[in-house]
Amino acid sequence: MSLVVTSIGELVTNDPHLGIVHDAAVVVEGDRIAWIGPSSQAPDADSRLDADGAAVLPGFVDSHAHLVFAGDRAAEFGARMAGQPYTGGGIRTTVAATRAASDEDLRRNARRLVSEALRQGTTTIEIKSGYGLSVAEEARSLRLAAEIVEETTFLGAHVVPAEYAGRADEYVDLVRGEMLDAAVPYAKWVDVFCDRGAFDGDQARSILKAGAERGLGLRLHANQLGHGPGVQLAVELGAASADHCTHLDDADVAALAGSDTVATLLPGAEFSTRSPYPDARRLLDAGATVALATDCNPGSSYTSSMPFCIALAVREMRMTPAEAVFAATAGGAAALRRDDLGVVRVGARADLVILDAPSHVHLAYRPGVPLIRTILHNGVPQ
Ligand code: NIG
Ligand code: FE
Repeated sequence: MSLVVTSIGELVTNDPHLGIVHDAAVVVEGDRIAWIGPSSQAPDADSRLDADGAAVLPGFVDSHAHLVFAGDRAAEFGARMAGQPYTGGGIRTTVAATRAASDEDLRRNARRLVSEALRQGTTTIEIKSGYGLSVAEEARSLRLAAEIVEETTFLGAHVVPAEYAGRADEYVDLVRGEMLDAAVPYAKWVDVFCDRGAFDGDQARSILKAGAERGLGLRLHANQLGHGPGVQLAVELGAASADHCTHLDDADVAALAGSDTVATLLPGAEFSTRSPYPDARRLLDAGATVALATDCNPGSSYTSSMPFCIALAVREMRMTPAEAVFAATAGGAAALRRDDLGVVRVGARADLVILDAPSHVHLAYRPGVPLIRTILHNGVPQ
């Protein structure tokens, strides 16, 4: 089956950087993009979609989300807005709720969030484990995640679970041994929360190296709550992405800029923990590749909305609308080392968003407004 989208007022191709084309048409065949050109020269196809002058861009690539969990932490959020700090300690509350939930409940909740994200233009989303924290529970979380998405990440090293309190090194041995063995069949990536109150640099290194030996790609929660070794470690090990990057020194910025490790910024987390935002301008000016993602999770960032993150990045992190849209599409694809996503190019995945607006700028200019008119996901209108 083929489909032609005509009368695209502004097509964001990201090929190269933002790569805007006006008065364009795109032909989709099956789940791939087959042709891009002027709307006046659009070939025939089995069906036709008239964009009526609207902006069209690649679907958002949300490279960082924690969607396998039960319950919520609205009370913790309320307390935080009344002045309590965020420490990550609430993760254990979600671990208890997740362990008590059935497969069906976890599956239903994760699917609800994936479809909530899709309605807001997200056509690719990564899902981490990390609320199971035992061999069986981490394997279960990843098995359920792998039923739903292609990009799955083993985060057994999210925090030390209560039953290992005071025995962090024993827990690290479990994570890089038996738990990793159970995770490998369902995981593409391995991640560690390397931060204050979670895991230190040596613990993170040993887990990431064990994951790499088993063929997993590397990503890292780094420098969220304070300055630490995370970003340098991510670069040293050739991780695809260092995520959060809120507290960076000059050496961290230089290391990211001189590497293939993407700096993934998660402004929903700073919003929901009322924390200072990362300095995106400094990273971009140094030449680092920046991605934007939601970090959707019940504790630090309970949003599935990439448009919201784009608006925050522009208003609070001094990114231009063009930089933010690029980071939310091509940036996310780079953070997942995918060259078939986040780009409108012949042969790429036919994941497109048609806006209810004439330009990508409206995503930040009209914050909170539902601007997603139509989504093509794997070539299929949603
Ligand atoms: O990315 N920082 C660690 N993990 C999540 C928070 C998880 C939670 O609070 O439940 C994050 O922000
Ligand atoms: Fe996270």
